[in-house]
Amino acid sequence: MGVESVVERIEQALRGVIDPELGADIVDLGMVKRVDVDDGVATIGVALTIAACPLRDQIEQDVKRKVLALPEISDVLVEVSAMTVDEKADIMSKARWKAREDAEPTMIHPSTRVIAISSGKGGVGKSSTSVNLAVALAKQNFRVGLLDADIWGFSVPRMLGIGDARLEANENAQIVPVEAHGVSVVSTGLLIDDEDKALMWRGLMLSKALEQFLTDVAWDTLDYLVIDMPPGTGDIQMALSRLLPQAEMVVVTTPQRAAQKVASRVADMARRSFMPVIGVLENMSGFTTEDGRHYKLFGEGGGQELADGLGIPLIGQVPLDPFIVEAGDDGVPLVISHPDSPAAAALMNVAKRMTELIPPAEDETCTARIDRLIEGLQRIDS
Ligand SMILES: Nc1ncnc2c1ncn2[C@@H]1O[C@H](COP(=O)(O)OP(=O)(O)OP(=O)(O)O)[C@@H](O)[C@H]1O
Ligand SMILES: [Mg+2]
Repeated sequence: MGVESVVERIEQALRGVIDPELGADIVDLGMVKRVDVDDGVATIGVALTIAACPLRDQIEQDVKRKVLALPEISDVLVEVSAMTVDEKADIMSKARWKAREDAEPTMIHPSTRVIAISSGKGGVGKSSTSVNLAVALAKQNFRVGLLDADIWGFSVPRMLGIGDARLEANENAQIVPVEAHGVSVVSTGLLIDDEDKALMWRGLMLSKALEQFLTDVAWDTLDYLVIDMPPGTGDIQMALSRLLPQAEMVVVTTPQRAAQKVASRVADMARRSFMPVIGVLENMSGFTTEDGRHYKLFGEGGGQELADGLGIPLIGQVPLDPFIVEAGDDGVPLVISHPDSPAAAALMNVAKRMTELIPPAEDETCTARIDRLIEGLQRIDS
């Protein structure tokens, strides 16, 4: 055997223990706090992000197995502790850094701000919001892309009046986004009247489809890429954070007070995908008649409650407006068709809030973003 000590060999063995959530080994992540050997018995101290996390058993068992595999070790004791706030911050930045290193190259410029419009449940107005926010940002003279990540349930093309348009390839065989109201748009709805292509897309996993939209599309250098997320909190979120580590989330919710369940779903989604949640947007916030009477049709306080639960700001309340439905059907988003309506004004305001919360890249260093991410995760965990 070489000159390395038993402790060194144990550390080497521990590199084989991967934290599946963070995607790196526990030594790299700084989770190994102590390695002692006394008469063949190894004591390993492991600090987990949350002591009661569901992965605790798995990590403990992995540690035992790996270390017991060393011939000079007869028994292993694992001491599990919870990380301090500082340690958590440190581990998150390491995991982020690793995610960035591992990220596959996409056609999205690294300086592009990526805002995923998500929700904890379906039908709350993600697509209407995505479309109006993208157009509102374009009206502020930003270069804006809109990616419809709702691969099967696409509604963006119709809402932008380009339901009949089709994506075409340029001379480099890259897909060229369709322009609508100043926004570059990509959606499966712009592909699938061609049966062969439809079959091709159908055969792809959802995350693969998203990957194609990011790697095979000739996106210009954008200031903002808005992503209309599908309902649900699974694969697409994970794929997105793998492909675009800079992605951040805005959560849309209704005024209904059922926030607890939604909040834990969103928090879980954020934690697993390392996506910071920058704000909550309450949609369908009451209805005001022409003579000024206000009706709280879907309850009240749900947006604030969710924002409080996540420890992030409520960035706007968009009232119910029948013209949103009509605008969606006519293909002219509300912020263009009825710019003076209360709902359009609220949406324009949300767009402005977003540019304050995540300013165009040249205005901000990437460290500020990492700070925000860590802060957000600490709030979620606490
Ligand atoms: N503020 C609003 N006022 C009135 N109607 C609205 C408002 N926001 C959205 N809607 C309507 O509610 C319906 C659902 O909206 P939308 O499709 O944007 O939700 P979604 O969250 O994207 O749904 P899904 O989860 O199915 O993707 C649409 O008919 C839309 O026009
Ligand atoms: Mg939708």
